Amino acid sequence: MPPAVQERDIQKLIFLLYRHYVDMAVLRLTSAILFASVLGLSHAQTSSGGNNTVLTTCQSIANAISSASSVFYPGSPNYVADISHWANSSTENAVCSVEPGTADDVGAILRILGSSRTSFGVKGGGHSPNPGFSSTKGVEISMARFSEVTYHESSQTVDIGPGLVWENVYAALEPHNVSVVGGRISGVGVSGFTLGGGLSYKANEHGLALDNVQAYELVFPNGTVATVTSADEDLWFGLRGGFNNFGIVTKFTLKTFPQTKIWGGTIAIPSSSLDAAAGAIASYQANVTDPKATINAQFLYASGEVILDLVVFYDAPTPPPGIFEDFLSIPGANASLVSTRTILELVQFEANAAPAEPNILLNASPVKSFTKPIIESVINETKFWGDRLTPESATIVANIVEVFLPSMFSHGPPSAYPPDRSITIAPINLYLGWTNSSATNTMHDALVQSAAQMKAVTIGDGQDVENAAIYTNYALGDAPLESLYGGNVQRLHEIKVKYDPDNVMGLTGGFKF
Ligand SMILES: Cc1cc2nc3c(=O)[nH]c(=O)nc-3n(C[C@H](O)[C@H](O)[C@H](O)COP(=O)(O)OP(=O)(O)OC[C@H]3O[C@@H](n4cnc5c(N)ncnc54)[C@H](O)[C@@H]3O)c2cc1C
Ligand SMILES: *[C@@H]1O[C@H](CO)[C@@H](O)[C@H](O)[C@H]1NC(C)=O
Ligand SMILES: *[C@@H]1O[C@H](CO)[C@@H](O)[C@H](O)[C@H]1NC(C)=O
Ligand SMILES: *[C@@H]1O[C@H](CO)[C@@H](O)[C@H](O)[C@H]1NC(C)=O
Ligand SMILES: *[C@@H]1O[C@H](CO)[C@@H](O)[C@H](O)[C@H]1NC(C)=O
Ligand SMILES: *[C@@H]1O[C@H](CO)[C@@H](O)[C@H](O)[C@H]1NC(C)=O
Ligand SMILES: *[C@@H]1O[C@H](CO)[C@@H](O)[C@H](O)[C@H]1NC(C)=O
Ligand SMILES: *[C@@H]1O[C@H](CO)[C@@H](O)[C@H](O)[C@H]1NC(C)=O
Ligand SMILES: *[C@@H]1O[C@H](CO)[C@@H](O)[C@H](O)[C@H]1NC(C)=O
Repeated sequence: MPPAVQERDIQKLIFLLYRHYVDMAVLRLTSAILFASVLGLSHAQTSSGGNNTVLTTCQSIANAISSASSVFYPGSPNYVADISHWANSSTENAVCSVEPGTADDVGAILRILGSSRTSFGVKGGGHSPNPGFSSTKGVEISMARFSEVTYHESSQTVDIGPGLVWENVYAALEPHNVSVVGGRISGVGVSGFTLGGGLSYKANEHGLALDNVQAYELVFPNGTVATVTSADEDLWFGLRGGFNNFGIVTKFTLKTFPQTKIWGGTIAIPSSSLDAAAGAIASYQANVTDPKATINAQFLYASGEVILDLVVFYDAPTPPPGIFEDFLSIPGANASLVSTRTILELVQFEANAAPAEPNILLNASPVKSFTKPIIESVINETKFWGDRLTPESATIVANIVEVFLPSMFSHGPPSAYPPDRSITIAPINLYLGWTNSSATNTMHDALVQSAAQMKAVTIGDGQDVENAAIYTNYALGDAPLESLYGGNVQRLHEIKVKYDPDNVMGLTGGFKF
């Protein structure tokens, strides 16, 4: 999804890498100071209570869990890994972290957190850019120890641990020549991606990731462990799009599909050819119906102008003629980074692609069909906000046009997300990264304004998207529930009350039913 890195960006990458090491050093220092304060060297907490109460909870957890699980405190490398997020802006300093190793231990932890009313976070891959969604100042639960991939050839399914990232899954399945509907960029977690929806290279063929779940192992907020399947009507509806509202998932069972090598990569298109590219993308959307094909057009602000990194994908070693030629013949298009490769190789290639700025936020604008005027407005928005936000320390100003087939939402029964499956709503994914933490409000406002502008242009283009749902996994943390779940909100609230009467999951962040 985010900007791909070309040779021209290599210097920036080296800089980011360097800064990453500096950041980690800062984090370690912060941790050391924090550790000292938790040990009681700071008197402030004794009377205020807050952190000491949490510390007591941490100790209760440590006493209750089996030897498969552990609690960590600031200063330990596990603690640092547990609280770390892809975007530093969504990392918070927890009082302690816990790495459960069994579903029963997750149950014991939830019971203690619930009865002590302690704030907590649940982290899968840690890729949410919304602060508080998988982070906390209380107890951070890292799912890292749930890291098994078990392929069942007879049922063509795979059990996946929620602590994994997609490249772990692709790597484990590759020897079997099968794959799943999973992530497009390395580092993204199985958990949040699948619980929120899951836009994949293979989505035109098989739907969202959540359409390919066969079962969840779920720890209810009261600590009881259960397996949830389509037989459990309400939970099945709620879990498909509902993130952490109903408990903590300790295993996903997904459908697998035969997998050959694929054809794909990034075509770099210069600023001077954007008009041709906009025409070719609109023509692709209007004409291409082959579900093995997908494109992802990443408009990036770079040195005062807009450039395009167009990710192309075909789910076979070679695409048939007639699909991608229009892109390859755009003047100045450089397709040297497109090749026949494994999905794992493509995902790892796109990885470099996602430099984690210290501060990141995403947003999305809903589109039914990408026409040339909509793409032109995306280009204009990229330029407009690039010019305006670069002086405010923005280092990534990108808008990503994710083209899917109108049938993409038709691959499953009703679910929390998307609230309307009659037509696919594809996202324009707005993406900002910046260095000055004081600029957060400016960036947030820009994302709101720019998405509103794109939506107005889409409506002006004759598309009825006034009430179309925003994709959960790209939405800003303060997005109203109705903007994501539409007419499903009331039912989701009722399901939540039924399965979490004590509102234990209200102690953790995210979109709350
Ligand atoms: C670089 C990048 C690329 C991306 N690419 C794509 C893409 O191609 N397609 C797409 O659809 N999205 C994409 N996304 C969005 C991504 O799907 C979401 O950020 C997703 O939520 C990340 O999952 P995670 O497990 O890493 O997140 P986390 O931050 O760990 O968790 C996200 C949410 O899920 C909850 N959660 C995590 N684990 C569990 C669990 N075991 N049980 C219950 N709740 C849990 C958390 O509490 C949190 O609220 C991308 C994001 C980034 C930053
Ligand atoms: C095409 O891109 C590759 C990889 O980024 C680069 O090495 C090469 O110089 C580019 N070719 C042209 C003609 O720009
Ligand atoms: C509690 O700990 C957090 C860090 O985890 C710290 O920022 C905060 O100041 C502490 N609160 C009190 C009351 O000491
Ligand atoms: C990263 O986040 C931490 C905790 O919120 C903060 O103290 C630190 O300044 C951030 N680092 C950078 C480089 O922004
Ligand atoms: C996977 O495919 C490769 C190449 O086609 C083949 O050599 C190999 O035997 C296959 N492996 C399995 C487990 O089917
Ligand atoms: C479909 O493709 C044809 C041939 O490439 C092109 O002439 C036509 O304009 C396209 N349709 C639309 C609606 O873009
Ligand atoms: C470009 O975007 C800005 C900001 O949204 C808007 O005010 C302006 O009208 C747009 N220009 C064109 C030509 O669409
Ligand atoms: C960060 O932004 C604040 C508020 O706009 C400003 O006062 C400060 O100078 C900026 N810092 C840097 C390093 O640019
Ligand atoms: C825990 O909650 C589940 C789901 O609501 C319920 O089926 C189960 O009976 C509860 N267990 C206990 C011990 O209350």
